[in-house]
Amino acid sequence: MSSYITSSVAKKYIMALTGIPLMLFIFGHMLGNLQIFLGADAINNYAATLQGLGGFLWAIRITLFVLFITHAILSSILYVENKLARPVSYHKPATVVATLTSRTMIITGLIIVCFLVFHIFHYTVQSIDPSFKHLFDTQGRHDVYTMLIKGFSNSSITSIYLLGVVLLGAHVHHAAASALQSLGLMNHKYAKYINFAGPLLGVIVAVGYAVVPLCVLFKVIK
Ligand code: HEM
Repeated sequence: MSSYITSSVAKKYIMALTGIPLMLFIFGHMLGNLQIFLGADAINNYAATLQGLGGFLWAIRITLFVLFITHAILSSILYVENKLARPVSYHKPATVVATLTSRTMIITGLIIVCFLVFHIFHYTVQSIDPSFKHLFDTQGRHDVYTMLIKGFSNSSITSIYLLGVVLLGAHVHHAAASALQSLGLMNHKYAKYINFAGPLLGVIVAVGYAVVPLCVLFKVIK
């Protein structure tokens, strides 16, 4: 029993350590996307700068991939182990303190994995709409601005993104407090701030990502 607890604490610790840089990426990527509001030149320039990183970009991609896979696998193992250790869920008392977002972390996490696979095929591999590969601006850069306008003008595609980013927001909503708890950094003094900041971060992520497809779909950006 004690080795089960030690190993599950270690897994939670690693999940927190892998989740924090993923969260930083989520905020960085969101700020990058929001440059669409500064116009085509800004976002195309930003994308070209990233592509220009060459080998370093690949190092970032591989690091993110390893962090993401580790995080996803450990959470799935922990979920199965918890179910096997306690096949019958607690009744009301336990579920009352657990929020909806904390109880659905495994579901939101798994749907986010599916969303990410779709997203990478959509905008990075560009195989869902291969016409994206032939979009270039007057300076010969990949025209990411037009790609996003074309992509989100399709309401079915936009719906998939909205679902993905709202669930990502729900995941982040609980993740901040959970990570600090796993790292042993949660204490009574700071708990009320952390319990406020986590949900706020979740809302910022959902709104910050959703605003781009919504503004394209409703032709606020064209
Ligand atoms: C409305 C929401 C989003 C938009 C507009 C968007 C936009 C983009 C674009 C344009 C690219 C391709 C960049 C390029 O190759 O030039 C990209 C790649 C990527 N996005 Fe997003 N994204 C969104 C949501 C997300 C979310 C929620 C995540 C993660 C949780 C994410 C993770 C990634 C990753 C991992 C890549 C691949 C980066 C690479 O290897 O180059 N994106 N995104």
